[in-house]
Amino acid sequence: MSQSLSNEQLIDIANEFGTPVYVYHAEKITEQFQKLQEAFKASNARFFYASKALTNINILKHIRSIGCDVDCSSINEVKMAVHAGFERQNILYTSNGIAFSEIEEAVALGVNINIDSLSNLEKFGKKYGHSYPVGIRLRPNIMAGGNLKISTGHEKSKFGIPVDQLEKILELVEQHNLFICGLHVHTGSEIKDVSVFMKVAEIFFDLVPHFPELAYLDLGGGFKVPYKEEEEGTNVPLLGEEVAKFMQKVKETYPHDFEVWFEPGKFIVSECCYFITQVNVIKQSGSTTFAGVNSGFNHLIRPMFYESYHRIINISNPDAPKHTYTVTGNICETDTFAADRQIAEIHEGDLLAFYNAGAYGYEMGSNYNSRFKPAQVLVIKEKPHLIGRRDVWEDLLRNQVEISL
Ligand code: LLP
Repeated sequence: MSQSLSNEQLIDIANEFGTPVYVYHAEKITEQFQKLQEAFKASNARFFYASKALTNINILKHIRSIGCDVDCSSINEVKMAVHAGFERQNILYTSNGIAFSEIEEAVALGVNINIDSLSNLEKFGKKYGHSYPVGIRLRPNIMAGGNLKISTGHEKSKFGIPVDQLEKILELVEQHNLFICGLHVHTGSEIKDVSVFMKVAEIFFDLVPHFPELAYLDLGGGFKVPYKEEEEGTNVPLLGEEVAKFMQKVKETYPHDFEVWFEPGKFIVSECCYFITQVNVIKQSGSTTFAGVNSGFNHLIRPMFYESYHRIINISNPDAPKHTYTVTGNICETDTFAADRQIAEIHEGDLLAFYNAGAYGYEMGSNYNSRFKPAQVLVIKEKPHLIGRRDVWEDLLRNQVEISL
């Protein structure tokens, strides 16, 4: 994993914009997108950035500017995508457990839609019949992904219509003359094993003949990116080769040329971002040395929620001898970012950079403990731009309604 912004750049940004601050790097996002384009160039592939990972409007605009499409998980994300200038046909709304009224709104906006329940499919059929093409979100009954919380394809998962309910799907399709234009599966996040994607592809292969109007096969997102230094992510070039072979097989078997769609979130934005915090206190307790930073799980919840690993570098003192630290935050409950981690000697006031903070970092943040959400800075061609200001006092009261008591 190479560092795309230097420690000096990060320190300058921290000095200029204060901490805690999320620092994104536009060119790294572009680089990741180009890796995908390169890997899948032999297939008729489209990439829809899973915007749930990071919805800052400037990030969305950058993603649009490099030719990537966008996947949304709520009607508000769809509206954000429209606001960022994406064309309707380049927006995908992959729904899950939503009220039918949101699907109606998505239809009114003219975006692509994947429906994930028989119930909504039936409502859709009754209202739109054959007039609006729609994709079906399936559950493949495959267990995969970095941890249970981010595994979405297994037999106990709420996501998608179980593939074993094919007959019911076909009944609805026939009854309402539905125009099924796509099949979708998102099996989970952080799937390293290429064969998982190919298992899903094989499920699609058998389903294709049932849906004569199909135009795309959507393999979802979930490519693993390296979080630890020695770790490897999904072998995307290999996946590209396997998918190309598969699509060739599909083409030879059926009189059809399908598009293959992907919805990567982490792959596109995880590595483009460093979350910079400052050390408030060093506390010695028995054999543990705590480094307490000016943040907590209110700003980066992944370590506490998923036990996720984020590399932490002392950018103020990177070459000092390493010691063992437990890095914690400043909120009122346990908010351990890293336990017993080897980090270059830390002094109070030092700046710590958390790697891989782009995906589901700021986006899952909150104002817990009435702390301000951090600032966000985007570096484009070496120049830092403020793209999200740090909260101010008024933000904490913005939605509160003070009644006379
Ligand atoms: N498509 C669908 C339908 C999804 O539900 C997701 C993620 C993606 C694509 C993108 O997955 P990705 O490429 O980013 O792995 N908050 C968790 C991850 C939750 C993912 C939810 N769905 C985390 O921080 O690890």
